[in-house]
Amino acid sequence: MATHGKNIDQVTDKTAIKEMNVKLLHTLPADLDRQHLPQHVAVIMDGNGRWAKKQGLPRIVGHRQGVDVLKDLLRCCKDWGIESLTAYAFSTENWGRPSEEVDFLMVLFERVLRKELHEMCMEGVRITFMGDLEALPQSLQAEIQHSMAETANNKAVRFNIAINYGSRREIIKVCRHVAEKVRAGELNPEDIDESIFEQHLYTSGIHDPDLLIRTSGEMRLSNFLLWQIAYTEIYFTDILWPEFDRTEFHHALVAYQQRDRRFGKVK
Ligand code: IPE
Ligand code: IPE
Ligand code: MG
Repeated sequence: MATHGKNIDQVTDKTAIKEMNVKLLHTLPADLDRQHLPQHVAVIMDGNGRWAKKQGLPRIVGHRQGVDVLKDLLRCCKDWGIESLTAYAFSTENWGRPSEEVDFLMVLFERVLRKELHEMCMEGVRITFMGDLEALPQSLQAEIQHSMAETANNKAVRFNIAINYGSRREIIKVCRHVAEKVRAGELNPEDIDESIFEQHLYTSGIHDPDLLIRTSGEMRLSNFLLWQIAYTEIYFTDILWPEFDRTEFHHALVAYQQRDRRFGKVK
């Protein structure tokens, strides 16, 4: 009996520890200051292909794995109280990849949106997209419009996905819009200022990112959010995107909280 009792204790202990670990994962780590979390985190999810290659698998396996990582990061942002997450999923330059990879990515985006929409709705995620969406396959465009409409009133966390996005193209688009307004006599050139410019960016209405994370050891921006990151803290890590888990995100947030954001001023 005694041995039996002990076993039950051990089992209970194990279950309790497991439950505690799950709970810990969902609560903000104790070394992070809730008052100074980034409101908006942007990620350049890089290294999917190299991760797959490292294990002798085709690149597309890395992209598939990358989706799970992004899903968990979004949930983590919600759990830890970060308002917005912007993810770079496909750049205007990525069309230059082999067509099989591009086609796979387009189908993957569509399939993931369709599969995850219900759960994201339930979790209060508001999904938005940015980029030149009209150049995407029709069926993907339809899924994008549907998911934006379905989640438009959700408030728990904002999930902004950049597809066929290029910052230079975005800036040119803004210039055209503003120039049209001047031509129509709705705006004087001398009235063009930063706030007017920002109103025409895809990110209009979203606070600029406080933190930009790029995985895979590359230290470049690859045409991402060039206007918006003027005062963003940048965190580079060698970890490949498919291995970027909550622990790695925690490291990035600790690094962020150690930064002194001066915005050009003297303290
Ligand atoms: C990032 O991973 C995902 C996309 C650009 C779609 P990569 O596909 O760039 O992976 P690497 O950089 O080749 O390892
Ligand atoms: C940037 O990664 C684009 C995305 C993550 C979607 P890339 O792998 O395309 O960038 P480069 O080619 O290394 O600059
Ligand atoms: Mg890459």
